Amino acid sequence: LAACGENESASSSGSDSGSDSGGIEKMTLKVGHTLSDTSHYQEGLKKFKELVEEKSDGQITVEIFPNGSLGGEREMIEGLDIGTVDMVLSSTGPMSGFAPEVTVVDLPFLFRDADHAHKVLDGEIGQDLLKKLESEGMKGLSWWENGFRNVTNNVRPVEKPEDLKGLKLRTMENEIHMAAFEEMGADPTPMAFPELFTALQQGVVDGEENPVPVIWSSRFYEVQDYLTMTRHVYNPSIMLISKSKFDGYSEEVQNLLLESSKEAGDYERQVVQDMEDKYLSQLEEKGMNVITDVDLEPFEKAVQPVYDKYSEQFGKDLIENIKNTK
Ligand code: PAF
Repeated sequence: LAACGENESASSSGSDSGSDSGGIEKMTLKVGHTLSDTSHYQEGLKKFKELVEEKSDGQITVEIFPNGSLGGEREMIEGLDIGTVDMVLSSTGPMSGFAPEVTVVDLPFLFRDADHAHKVLDGEIGQDLLKKLESEGMKGLSWWENGFRNVTNNVRPVEKPEDLKGLKLRTMENEIHMAAFEEMGADPTPMAFPELFTALQQGVVDGEENPVPVIWSSRFYEVQDYLTMTRHVYNPSIMLISKSKFDGYSEEVQNLLLESSKEAGDYERQVVQDMEDKYLSQLEEKGMNVITDVDLEPFEKAVQPVYDKYSEQFGKDLIENIKNTK
């Protein structure tokens, strides 16, 4: 892969000789994400930057590109291969187009809570899923978090699946999410995230679904009236780098990146929790009608056909193992 630093010394694969720190070559890593600079992704990546720069004695510099300035998630993942970006923090949403096996985690109502998800993803199952990225030319350094997704819209309060009927709802470009919303009666419309705010503002779609920290940091309260805490999908994120780039680094650099990603990812998961606690009430103050007390059973029942459709593809045992992880 070609290096993509902004100048010669900022080349991520450059053979720069400046290696005063235990043989680590000087380089810059460009990391892209789609969220704003007030988001949980940005907070986690600031921690990652701090850790990498400290552990490498300043030999490695991390540059963060927020706001989809390097493209939407799918586009940036493609960019790993072309070399327009070195690392991407992406949710698993776009993975159905790259490594569909990984999207088992996108099944609705699969995880009971964040602790359950962390146990699965940090354990053998999650590590096996990350390995599946390798045959697609990617290395998943560790699992991070986007959070439990919730429905917002501009038409009516959603309290039961029937209320979703006919709502044009933007989803990620993810087959499973789309199938789930079809079963719940909505009209799912896949769209890259950078187009979403304008699409909501102009009424191209009636609603969308995202975790509270996204709804807050992307200011969706300015263009959406109703929020229901449906928590229909736990959405993890992955810190991605191209496999060939990763393989080209010394063991010291590989370990440094792996350790920093794990530590920053754990920190970022806490930020997600803190932001959800803090911003849910503030969304109400901004004028959103927020429904927290919702009977999720009918929603869970409505999406059962999605399990029937995908359980063979992912394997019934894998789904059971995930569900039964305590
Ligand atoms: O809705 C999405 O596309 C994702 O949740 C986002 C905001 C890009 C974060 O990964």
